[in-house]
Amino acid sequence: MNILEIINKKKNKELLTKEELSFAFNGYDKGDILDYQMASLLMAITINGLTEEEVFNLTEIFIESGEKISFEGFDYVDKHSTGGIGDKTTLIVAPIVAACGIPILKMSGRGLGHTGGTIDKLESIKDFKINLSIEEIKESLIKNKIVLVGQSANIAPLDKKIYLLRDVTSTVESIDLIAVSIMSKKIALGAKNIVIDLKVGNGALVKNMNDAYLLASLMKKIGTKFERNVSFIISNMGNPLGLTIGNSLEVLESIQVLKGNGAYDITNLSLVLSAKLIEMHKKIDFKEAFMMAKNALDKGLAFNKFLELIKNQDGILGSLTRAKNEMVIYSQKTGYITSIDAYGLGVEAKNIKAGRATKEDIIDYQVGIELHYQVGQLVKEDQPLATVYYNEVKPNEEKILKCFKIENEKIENKLILGVINYDSN
Ligand code: URA
Repeated sequence: MNILEIINKKKNKELLTKEELSFAFNGYDKGDILDYQMASLLMAITINGLTEEEVFNLTEIFIESGEKISFEGFDYVDKHSTGGIGDKTTLIVAPIVAACGIPILKMSGRGLGHTGGTIDKLESIKDFKINLSIEEIKESLIKNKIVLVGQSANIAPLDKKIYLLRDVTSTVESIDLIAVSIMSKKIALGAKNIVIDLKVGNGALVKNMNDAYLLASLMKKIGTKFERNVSFIISNMGNPLGLTIGNSLEVLESIQVLKGNGAYDITNLSLVLSAKLIEMHKKIDFKEAFMMAKNALDKGLAFNKFLELIKNQDGILGSLTRAKNEMVIYSQKTGYITSIDAYGLGVEAKNIKAGRATKEDIIDYQVGIELHYQVGQLVKEDQPLATVYYNEVKPNEEKILKCFKIENEKIENKLILGVINYDSN
């Protein structure tokens, strides 16, 4: 077999066999296929796509590149977000679901570019241990019902390698490659019931509803092929989620939500995602599941679970602080907020070191942006729109102010744009 022939086949829109995919991708994993050859193949795939059969085969190759977790006879759930600005739902959903007696194992990644990553948020908690062995994961899952860990090198390691290359070769947006990347990790982690929060909008990877439906449909088919139930909540990522962007700030906001004092959008989306997981695991009606989730939140059971999680993974919560320097951004006019540019604020937050520009960059956990208003609210001239907490890099006041659109007409911020259920029968 020859890599040039394989690249040429995909360039000419021909089907690749499982052997050819394996030759190329496993060869890349071993170092036999070089970066520029794989980059070329990835670009051909991004332009010409993969058939369903090719997607299934590539998913299997990714899964088999590492370890698989499976605890015989022990069912747990998993939740995934395709990533966005201010998305701290994992820190809220996982404790809610666990407080309802359902084990949840979540492996999260770091943020790159303008989006944040759950692992960075967890690392803003002093000493929080994100690397657990498979034995430790199992023990905690049985005892505490909640485990949040970092992306272990052994779970679909090929995805990690390919993702890094996609990130620098403009091949991240391929629907087929996104589906393979996400689903291979989910399947290797072993959960039977999976909920995916598929973000759509300018702050997200997926920019329109058409692509969201294509991606969901493909991921659902992969789920069925590998005997997993996958449901989707399609949510709006045009505006940031909740009131904070930045690691410590987002953990502090999650605590407010878990104490029942959160903003409506983040609280409601967290409850919907939790209810979907509860519905799937317990095979009950969504409304009943939603009431269970709400009860766990309202009675403080979810907050107690969160505290248990932090303690169990050696974290010290009291250490969370915001940066000392504050820049307040004032509104220059009176009117309704009609949009808050999630992508723009994500970039500004990254610039003050809340995120990374390259994977070697060091994050400042204390910095970030706190919003005082959300879309649909009335703001008066000279009122503070946002407070930026910063250390060594001074925020760009003008660029942050430009992210807020203020107009005379009020508009509603529709957060949940669609729901796609797994096929239960
Ligand atoms: N998240 C992933 O894990 N992989 C992708 O390709 C895109 C988002």
